[in-house]
Amino acid sequence: MTADNDKLPRKKGKIDDPVADDLKKDFPQLARKINRKRIVYLDNAATTQKPSCVIEAVKRFYEEHNANVHRGLYSISEESTRAFDEARAIVARFLSAEPDEIIFTKGATEGLNLLSWTVKEIVGKGREKILLTELEHHSNLVPWQELAKREGFKLEFVRIKKDFMLDMDDLKKKLDKKTAIFSFTAVSNAVGTKTDIALLSRLGREVGAITIIDAAQAAPHMKLDVKEIGCDFLTFSGHKMLGPAGVGVLYGKKDLLGKLPPFQFGGHMIRDVDYESATYGDSPEKFEAGTPNMEGVIGLGEAVRYLEAVGLENISSWENSLLRYALKKVCELEEVEVYTSGAENSAGVLSFNMKGVHPHDISSIFNDYNVCVRAGHHCTMPLMKKMGVSGTVRVSFYFYNTIEDVDLFVEALKKAISVFHPGAEEKPLLGGAVVVQEAEADKEAEEESKGDF
Ligand code: ALA
Repeated sequence: MTADNDKLPRKKGKIDDPVADDLKKDFPQLARKINRKRIVYLDNAATTQKPSCVIEAVKRFYEEHNANVHRGLYSISEESTRAFDEARAIVARFLSAEPDEIIFTKGATEGLNLLSWTVKEIVGKGREKILLTELEHHSNLVPWQELAKREGFKLEFVRIKKDFMLDMDDLKKKLDKKTAIFSFTAVSNAVGTKTDIALLSRLGREVGAITIIDAAQAAPHMKLDVKEIGCDFLTFSGHKMLGPAGVGVLYGKKDLLGKLPPFQFGGHMIRDVDYESATYGDSPEKFEAGTPNMEGVIGLGEAVRYLEAVGLENISSWENSLLRYALKKVCELEEVEVYTSGAENSAGVLSFNMKGVHPHDISSIFNDYNVCVRAGHHCTMPLMKKMGVSGTVRVSFYFYNTIEDVDLFVEALKKAISVFHPGAEEKPLLGGAVVVQEAEADKEAEEESKGDF
């Protein structure tokens, strides 16, 4: 039930500006105009636009094959079951995993919640600590806070340095034989920092901790091979990688999934039921109670096929070019503070503030240019507090963005500067005077006194 091959992009190989511009044509919403101006969509870390093939796969499911999966012994149910199972195989291939290691969830948040409710069963004796990093999104923080409260685990955080990179000395101090769970992001959604997920997984494994990767901001942008990475679990959301909303993936090593109890109970996940008790099926059924998000899963399978046709290496490389270009432009603007680990160590995210201006005020000027960005705390309030800001403006790229998109964003940013810093145009710009994590002096002193940053 997947789209015809001719619906997938034909241009494999390096993405450059003309190729990105061409790929844009696969995304109907990117052709929309508001006030006769095109949309410049730079909020891809929040959600991505959908290509026609994904939209068509969902539509075709409802128009031609809609029937419940794994239940009906009639043709259209067999068709929908086949398409659903095929999507699982596609996702498994995408991660170099086995199909029964792929659990469909509502998204990364549900993947992490599933683990936070079940993983205790496989924690070794005497292990009392959950280790996270200071970069985490609330979805890889709050579920663990709740587990810690329920079960008496201690929470610890690997500190970040001023450049937002993990402090590996701190990590080595905190990751020890007492660590039950080591859960970390692959890419910070707020500042774009990439972590070395293979190294972190290896270090976690060496002390016997369960390693969990929040790959919500990584799976859409870079090749992930779970066997090479060596993590125990990894989770991401479909809507951030061209797929429909309300569907996501939890990968788990087969033997570990076998040992975890179910997370939710009901239809489909059982083996045998009496009035008094029930026994449960194997993975993945055990974790997929009830009717699944069939159109979401099928749409996600199509999204993965599209991403594979474009090529994950090509995607990472083009996004890096866009980030380098944008960083260079923004670094020329004296009024702007940029929070970054530098292009080398970041995915396609550029987070910044304008001195003395609330991020929401900047993004509302951007809206006049149809430049769509996110402003706020990005569901990383502890990180924002550590940075001494209430939020940032965040630009986040995808492979369909072009140099012209960056130029339009910079034009909007210059407009915002002229509104909020009216004298700025007369002042000579200090070329290259970007401020990397330049919190005000008193904020910094405060942080240092806390032993942070
Ligand atoms: N987690 C998403 C973001 O970073 C919503 O914007």
